[in-house]
Amino acid sequence: MKSFFLCFLIQVFFSSPDTWLQNRQDSYADIAVADTSLGILILVNKKNKLAQGYRPHDLVPIKDKYNRGIMNLLRSEAAAAFAAMCHRAEEDSIILWNRSAYRSDTIQAGLFENAVKRRGLKSAARFSARPGHSEHQTGLTVDINSTHISFRNSPEAAWLRQYAHLFGFIERYPRKKEDITGYEHEPWHYRYVGITAATYIHENELTLEEYHATIGKQTGKTSR
Ligand code: DAL
Ligand code: ZN
Repeated sequence: MKSFFLCFLIQVFFSSPDTWLQNRQDSYADIAVADTSLGILILVNKKNKLAQGYRPHDLVPIKDKYNRGIMNLLRSEAAAAFAAMCHRAEEDSIILWNRSAYRSDTIQAGLFENAVKRRGLKSAARFSARPGHSEHQTGLTVDINSTHISFRNSPEAAWLRQYAHLFGFIERYPRKKEDITGYEHEPWHYRYVGITAATYIHENELTLEEYHATIGKQTGKTSR
C-alpha cells in the first residue's frame, strides 16, 4: 500500500499537470494527426486531431428549411444528404433540423472551456471535445433537433436510428460504447460517412473506431 501511494505521489509531482490530467482523466494521449486523405471516412476523436485551423474547402449552408442553428455549414455532399434525409422524414411526419453543424477550432475552444467551467474537466471531457478533436470541425457532423438526453426517447431519434444510414449518416456516439468513442451517448450527433459505410456500420452495430479497425485488418492499413 505504501509503495502504491509513493508511486502515486511521484506521478503527481513529476508529470506536467496537463499530461497527468490528459492521461488520467480523459484519455487524450498518444495523439496522431487525423488522416484527411480518408475523405468522408476521416476519423477524428481523442486520439486523432485535426491540424490547427483545418477548414474543409467545400462548406455550404444547409437548406434554410432544415436549419435553426447559427452554425449551419456542412461539406457539400453531407449538406445534400442531410436535406434529402430531412425531406424523406417529413413524409413520415418527422421534422428534423440542424442546430449545430461545422464548428471551427476557435468556436470549439470556447465551448470546451465553458463546459470545463460548468462541469469540471473530467465530466466535460465526456461530452465536449477539445479544439482540433471535434468532429464538428470536419463539416461532416450535425447535431439534430435537441441536445438534451431526453431526445433519445423521441420519435425523431427513433426515426434517425432506423433510417439515417440510408442517407449516409451514423449515430456517432451510441449507448454503451463510451469506452470506445470516448463520449457518452449523444442521440442527436450524426456523422456523414456515405451510404456504403453507414449501412455496414449500422448493420454490424459498430462505432466509427471499430469500423476503421475492421477495415484496417482487411486492408493491412491500421487506423486508430
Ligand atoms: N459533443 C461532441 C463530442 C463534440 O464536442 O464534438
Ligand atoms: Zn455534436
